[in-house]
Amino acid sequence: MPWLYIFPNGCYGFIMKKISLTGIKPTGLLHIGNYVAAIKPALALTGTYDARYFIADYHALNTIKDPTELSALIRQVAAGWLAAGLDPERVIFYRQSSIPETFELTTQLMAFTSKGLMNRAHAYKAAVQANTERGEDPDAGINMGLYTYPVLMAADILLFDSDVVPVGQDQVQHVEMAQDIAQVVNYNYKQEVLKVPQALVKESVAVVPGLDGRKMSKSYGNIIPLFTPEKELRKLIMRIVTNSQAVEEPKDPETSQIYALYRLFAAPEEQTALAARYREGGMGWGEAKEELFRVLNRELGPIRERFQALAADPKTLDDILARGAEKARVIAKATVNRFRAAAGID
Ligand code: ADP
Ligand code: TRP
Repeated sequence: MPWLYIFPNGCYGFIMKKISLTGIKPTGLLHIGNYVAAIKPALALTGTYDARYFIADYHALNTIKDPTELSALIRQVAAGWLAAGLDPERVIFYRQSSIPETFELTTQLMAFTSKGLMNRAHAYKAAVQANTERGEDPDAGINMGLYTYPVLMAADILLFDSDVVPVGQDQVQHVEMAQDIAQVVNYNYKQEVLKVPQALVKESVAVVPGLDGRKMSKSYGNIIPLFTPEKELRKLIMRIVTNSQAVEEPKDPETSQIYALYRLFAAPEEQTALAARYREGGMGWGEAKEELFRVLNRELGPIRERFQALAADPKTLDDILARGAEKARVIAKATVNRFRAAAGID
């Protein structure tokens, strides 16, 4: 969207902001890793960028085959974005499945995507390796949706002329594939049919640790769900694995995953003060966990409340998404038509 800018000399003109876009696939409960590393930094771009956010529900179809579950997860992620602060009046917010142009662009991109590129995708390679280690056929359980996942994601990104794509480190390869594919298209038609995007990774929170110290991920079952009730939140924090250091022993905040989580939610002065207490000794893991609970609950409490209000009002949620899809389709149609014209399918 262009912004009217009044210059100090009284002249005025329009300024085009850069476009940011990101999506989340509704494949499980949103957790604080998603919130800190994906949702929060992406929402922070609102205003500076012309921001677009969506729910990648066709990406989720690759793994979630139960309709009741998928439908609930889609609404959970939608309510999650809004509860975390997304303002649908200032950004474009929609479901991937409401934009049929996504699937036309996917087909268009398929013709420019080498099979070798897909063979190199981390998610596909990891699935093949897991099969091989189990002594199964390398492609066991791998559907074409998983195999071609990066093309659908490239279509999500390229459809909306995205300049930047805020994502976690694990998604950088997918954004690079979108760059590759866009460049192949542009090179072939000798014009900028598609804008080449850049990944935007917030390094300071690149990997959020889970309850067991590994990366927090729904596939490891080590998550702190974003909307978990207060009591449950305390219980989960108390379950974080710690070493057997006694209360009086000095502790190193840099190697503590409790502190790693604490620093994501505490103010800078709180971080410094608690790090000093770790180093002095005299603070047990129980107390460190209480402190973590306090700062986590302080931030998550209001988000949880907004989430519950939205979850109880699916009509409002659906209306917001439908209005977003209307705005999004205007842009999507222009991109697909630009491709058609360049390709001679006009
Ligand atoms: P999960 O690993 O739980 O399946 P997803 O793959 O659905 O999570 O991730 C959605 C978004 O959240 C991605 O941008 C991903 O990079 C980010 N993300 C997920 N877990 C973490 C984590 N533990 N640390 C940092 N970013 C994460
Ligand atoms: N693949 C992303 C994830 O697993 C979700 C996603 C789908 C996405 N399409 C996107 C992210 C486009 C950014 C831009 O987290």
